[in-house]
Amino acid sequence: MTEIALNAPEMFDLSGRVAFVTGAGSGIGQRIALGLAQCGADIACLDRRTDGGLNDTVGLIEGAGRKAISIAADVTSKTALTDAVAKTESDLGPLAISVNAAGIANANPAEEMEEEQYQSLMDINMKGIFLSCQAQANAMLRHGKGSIINIASMSGIIVNKGLDQVHYNASKAGVIHMSKSMAMEWVSRGVRVNSISPGYTATPMNTRPEMIHQTKEFETQTPMGRMASVNEMVGPAIFLASDASSFCTGVDLLVDGGFCCW
Ligand SMILES: NC(=O)c1ccc[n+]([C@@H]2O[C@H](COP(=O)([O-])OP(=O)(O)OC[C@H]3O[C@@H](n4cnc5c(N)ncnc54)[C@H](O)[C@@H]3O)[C@@H](O)[C@H]2O)c1
Repeated sequence: MTEIALNAPEMFDLSGRVAFVTGAGSGIGQRIALGLAQCGADIACLDRRTDGGLNDTVGLIEGAGRKAISIAADVTSKTALTDAVAKTESDLGPLAISVNAAGIANANPAEEMEEEQYQSLMDINMKGIFLSCQAQANAMLRHGKGSIINIASMSGIIVNKGLDQVHYNASKAGVIHMSKSMAMEWVSRGVRVNSISPGYTATPMNTRPEMIHQTKEFETQTPMGRMASVNEMVGPAIFLASDASSFCTGVDLLVDGGFCCW
């Protein structure tokens, strides 16, 4: 008989680990930061928001009994990210987990889109993920261990009906493939890289003016007949952050209510 040495619930335990979450001031990043803390991790929370979102996240994590630090920074700055990882390690300890959820969305027909609109989204959604992973991996590779999770989107796989967002869709396809590429560069050095591709999820991103009237359409198009709640991104993130996924790297985990099946 095969040896049974594993306590299954312990595979999801993050006690004593340090996590770094970008986009932690709102929506998916904020909820995942709290979820990782509820599993035992201490969290560095990074966002460019200045409206109190980060303070809310830190308060929620401390309320859950874990340590949290708040870092106001922009993911388009390599120096800011390097400094943020250094601060995380000096304040909380060796970096073990990162979740890169900072991102933006907007829309415009492709033939009319100004170069500036295209470039500013790409700078955050693509270059921001690259620079975040680079800064985080430089720490994790030194420790010989780590799990990086990038928040991509089902828009990296399908084209959203009725949304003119060529730059967003391309950025998310890029995040999925960038994650696989980095996973293979670091596969023999203990650092795993995976992505989560959410379907339509109820967050402030979906309250931007051009999308409010489309919420019903999102629900109808989704096989489960509804949008996801941010809570439904937490389990997949805990799985990929924890030892429960120790043989997973280069995976894109679709969390889309069945959307990509149709
Ligand atoms: N909401 C959805 O339906 C959905 C679906 C698929 C993928 N996603 C992705 O999930 C991620 C989180 O989105 P959300 O819905 O929670 O949106 P959100 O707007 O609620 O949160 C995004 C956060 O990222 C931060 N951010 C943006 N640009 C930044 C920058 N340059 N530097 C630092 N922080 C920055 C924002 O301040 C904000 O707090 C995004 O990458 C998004 O593309 C969202």
